Amino acid sequence: MTHEATAQESSEPDPPRDSSKILDTPLARDVATSLRGERPSIPCRYLYDDRGSRLFDEITLQPEYYLTRTEEAILEQHADAIVARAAPHELVELGSGTGKKVPTLLQAVKRAGMPAKLVLFEINAAMINASVARVKREHPEVQVTGVVGTFPDELQRLGPGGDRLVLFLGSTLGNQHPAQVPGFLTRVAQQMHPGDDLLLGLDLVKDPARLEAAYNDAAGVTASFSLNLLSVLNRELGADFDASAFEHVAVWEAESSWIRIALRARRDQHVRVPGAGVELRLRAGQEIQTEVSCKYTRPMLEQRLAGTGLALDQWHTDAHEDFAVALLRREADADPTR
Ligand SMILES: C[S@@+](CC[C@H](N)C(=O)[O-])C[C@H]1O[C@@H](n2cnc3c(N)ncnc32)[C@H](O)[C@@H]1O
Repeated sequence: MTHEATAQESSEPDPPRDSSKILDTPLARDVATSLRGERPSIPCRYLYDDRGSRLFDEITLQPEYYLTRTEEAILEQHADAIVARAAPHELVELGSGTGKKVPTLLQAVKRAGMPAKLVLFEINAAMINASVARVKREHPEVQVTGVVGTFPDELQRLGPGGDRLVLFLGSTLGNQHPAQVPGFLTRVAQQMHPGDDLLLGLDLVKDPARLEAAYNDAAGVTASFSLNLLSVLNRELGADFDASAFEHVAVWEAESSWIRIALRARRDQHVRVPGAGVELRLRAGQEIQTEVSCKYTRPMLEQRLAGTGLALDQWHTDAHEDFAVALLRREADADPTR
């Protein structure tokens, strides 16, 4: 029997024993579906509770994690050209996290003599509150609001716009499964008017050793970030995961052009997740997938843009082509009923 067959067989969950404990929350519903899948997984959005958000911020400072500093340098270099083209009345950052990158664009908006409005959209309320407070302190001239919400389903919380520059930075698009990217980008485009722009930060395909190192930092911060997801399920769903019984794995899979991140069981175990009505029997070596991080090329992006209503307008990279910042323009509506 192959390892994979063993994993699938052992992942078969037991029926829930006490349905009175099943919670009616997005996390409970999502986990009930994803842990019951043929290959158990947990949606990556739940990585970002307060501790997870702080750990992600720490990841961005690790020497192996070239992504953040490379993207920041590209933004520094090209912010004026991006702002000149987009001429935005409003910046909207999706998944803004600490909101550390937006000041570079705010400065460019200021240099261009434009009035600045900023909306930060995030799943984590504490992150929103902290970054809204920081922008108010450091850029008192900017009218800033925070929206707690989940993309893509709650993007309508942004309300009507116009002259928007939407930022989706930090390689966050890479966490979408490739098959979901066109639908995801279409949803984002629907929150934009023709002529609005979307700025995407994309990590690029490169030497697998560097890619894997970025997700296996020597200090173990990414491992703590992944394992924290089990604490989220223990706290929110009354699960009894023992984090010490799992190890963090992050591997490059060239055929999918992604780093696949998972928690691998160190031993056979039986885990109960009462809030989601799931019981999981895991064999040693079996994995719970927590995240993918897709790595892009320019043709891959162009292919995924087809039919989304967005067209590539500017493509900026660093000298080593490690990372790209792509400006996409929302095209005129082909279907005016949309
Ligand atoms: C990879 S981090 C990037 C953070 C920041 N934009 C950067 O460039 O460093 C992804 C961010 O998106 C947020 N996030 C993840 N999934 C989300 C979702 N479905 N809806 C809203 N925010 C989400 C996380 O809380 C986190 O702050």
